[in-house]
Order: sequence, then C-alpha cells, then structure tokens
Amino acid sequence: MNSSVRIGFAMTGSFCTFASVLPVIQELTERGNTITPILSFHAGTLDTRFGTAAHWRHALQQATGRTLIDSIPAAEPIGPKALFDVLVVAPCTGNTLAKLAHGITDTPVTMAVKSHLRGERPVILAVSTNDGLSGSAANLGTLLNRKHYYFVPLRQDAPRLKPRSIVADMALLPDTIQAALSGQQLQPLLLAPSPS
Ligand SMILES: Cc1cc2nc3c(=O)[nH]c(=O)nc-3n(C[C@H](O)[C@H](O)[C@H](O)COP(=O)(O)O)c2cc1C
Repeated sequence: MNSSVRIGFAMTGSFCTFASVLPVIQELTERGNTITPILSFHAGTLDTRFGTAAHWRHALQQATGRTLIDSIPAAEPIGPKALFDVLVVAPCTGNTLAKLAHGITDTPVTMAVKSHLRGERPVILAVSTNDGLSGSAANLGTLLNRKHYYFVPLRQDAPRLKPRSIVADMALLPDTIQAALSGQQLQPLLLAPSPS
C-alpha cells in the first residue's frame, strides 16, 4: 500500500487476536504510515490470560511511537480535525460490531468510528467473534450493507470446534486498507475455512 497514510488503529476486546494484530501494526509503521492506537475501555483495562492491559498498552506505544487514545473525549476530535485517512477496527468484537450496527456510541472505539464517519472516510472492520454466524450475523449483515464500511476478508476459523465462529485474516489488513482508500472492498471477502 501507499506510504504515509494516517491510520487510526482501534482495538477491541478479542484478546486472543492481539498477538496476530501487533505484527501488522509494526509492518504498517515500518512502511512509513502514521498509526495512532485507540483502545476500547475493555481492551485498554482488562488483564486476561492473553496478557495484561499494561503489557499491550506498552507494546502498542512502542510499535507506533504515538500516545494512545483511550477515552471518549480523546476520540471525539478525530472527525472535526480530520485526523485519519482511514480508521481500522482490528480486532472488532461482536460487542463493538453490534454497537456500530445500532448507532450506540459509548466507548473510545465507537466514538472514534462515529467521529471519523462524520467526514465520510473509510472504516475497516476486522471481525473476530465466536458468534459471527449466530448472534452477530445480523449485525455483520447490516454493516456489510452500509456506506463507508469495508471488511478484512474473513473465514470460519474452526468450523467443527466452533461452528459459528468467524475471524478476519489479519495478514490481509494492508491490502484491505489500500483497496478501501480507492473505494473498493478487497476480494474475495469470504475465505476458505481453516481445516479444523
Ligand atoms: C479472554 C477473552 C477473550 C475474548 N475474546 C473475544 C473475541 O474473540 N471476540 C469477541 O467478540 N469477544 C471476545 N471477548 C468478549 C469481549 O471482550 C467483551 O464482549 C467486551 O465487552 C468487548 O468490549 P469492546 O467491544 O468494547 O472491547 C473476550 C473476552 C475475554 C475475557
């Protein structure tokens, strides 16, 4: 993708996915893009078996060299000041997907999306949720059909073990960003399922 894109990079509480997202952030930074990390309240404060909040906050600041946006007031200027060319939500939980589909704005990430969309700029979602083909399916469908939203191609990650689960392929994030900046959805959107 082109260098020097200003990317707002929002992370929500799909904690098991953080380790596969961080290298993509590092890659995007090394390519000369400016990445500003944004954390949902839960992503920014919860310690889980996938690492402490302090660990991930430090890693993100190290990878991007930028101050985290982790409050609603800090996210509010994103639109008025046209801070980003593109806003990524990776990973995007079922919870955040539901809020975006229904116009609920009560976290730094949903505030960032709402503010960014004020300028009709692209939003990219990298969905990761165990109920993608059940409880979250309607919300995914709603946002697939909404202007300015693009999706990192996704697959069933464990069709037999977790038959309703879907996960975006984080390695396709840079290509998804490039396509979205030209108003295109990267294809194919639906990837072959993982073998398990
Ligand atoms: C260890 C752990 C892993 C989780 N993984 C996921 C996940 O992969 N996808 C998801 O939609 N929710 C996941 N959740 C639940 C979310 O963190 C929870 O719904 C939270 O309210 C999300 O808030 P947010 O969307 O504002 O970050 C996980 C929770 C924990 C504690």
